[in-house]
Parts: sequence; C-alpha cells; structure tokens
Amino acid sequence: MKQETKMDNHTKTAKAAIPAAPVMNQTSSEIQKFGTRFPVPLGLEDKVCEESISNLNRILADTMTLRDLYKKCHWQTSGATFYQLHLLFDKHYTEQAELVDLIAERIQVLGGISVAMASEVVELSKIEIPPTGREEVPAQISRLVAAHEVIFKFVRKAAKRASEGDDEGTADLLVSSVIRTNELQTWFISEHLVSLSPTEANLPEAKLNDTSKH
Ligand SMILES: [Fe+2]
Repeated sequence: MKQETKMDNHTKTAKAAIPAAPVMNQTSSEIQKFGTRFPVPLGLEDKVCEESISNLNRILADTMTLRDLYKKCHWQTSGATFYQLHLLFDKHYTEQAELVDLIAERIQVLGGISVAMASEVVELSKIEIPPTGREEVPAQISRLVAAHEVIFKFVRKAAKRASEGDDEGTADLLVSSVIRTNELQTWFISEHLVSLSPTEANLPEAKLNDTSKH
C-alpha cells in the first residue's frame, strides 16, 4: 500500500486499466547506507572484512580513474603512433573496466557497498586529475605510468593485509588480477617511451661492433 501512495494519478489510472503497465516513478529510502556492512558467512573476522572493503573501495576509485584516463588518451592521442596507441589505450581501458567489475563485486561479496558514481570516485582516488585538454604523447604515457604506480603502491599493501587476515579471496584478486594486469599494461606503455629509431641502429657501441666484424 505504501508503494501506491507514491504513484502519481496517471500511473494509478494506467495500472488500474492495464495490469501489465509498469509502475513508474517509484522511490525508496536507502536499504543500506554507504560505509555499513552486514555479516556474511565466509568464516572471516568482521574487522578483516571491514578493512578489505575500505581498501577495495580506494582501489576501485583508482581503477575507475585509470580506466577513464585510458579512454581519454584513446580519444586524444596524436602523432605518428596515433593508430597503434589509439588501439592499445582502448585495450587497456577494457581490461581496467573488467577489473572495476571484479573489485566492486568483491566489496559486495564481503557485505559492503562499492562506490559507483564519478563524484564519489573523485573524492576517494589518489590519482592526479589530468587537464581537460590534450597533452603530447610522452606526457600522456608518463601520466598513465604514474597512475599505475599509485595503484601498485596501495594494492601491494592491501593484498598483504588481506592475506594476513586470511582474506585470501581479496588477496588473490589483488595479486592475480589487479597487480598482474597493471604490471603488464605498464610494460606495454613504458616501451613507447624508449627513444630509439625504428629504422637505424645509431648507438655508438652498435656501430663500433658492426664495423669490427668486417
Ligand atoms: Fe573508440
């Protein structure tokens, strides 16, 4: 009955006339406040779950920020390596988006609430916010590498803490998925900062070795 008092007259009329009509414009109070947690039968201590949830939310905010940074770079990259980086940045965006889902759902598994909206992410993330405009490719990549490092530093500590509390599910997610994915992505983008000619080996030692053979 409480539900019906919140229905507007138009919806009431439609519902009365056609039982299959969707009931629109419904509202609800929060059924779980952010920052609260209910006990879950996982055999873990409450304080361990609470610490994991808190750490996972920070990692979630950083991962959502990095995910969006990759999409920004995908759109705004430029120059001779445009096509290659355009594709690579989007691949990394997709992989970060997959991590976002895994992290958020781990928080829910532990009985907590995951952050979801941009305004909450901005408050929690420690990754530096980029300018709205475009940056040169080396600056884009340097910014991405720095963002990965923010994640590494926090995630390694969080994984250790989870493992110490026997929360191996969280520790495994952080090590096997988050750290491994971020390490691989860091390698792929860092290689784009190596200043070598694609057509000429022009280091003095290389030239010397080359001539000594003849
Ligand atoms: Fe695209």
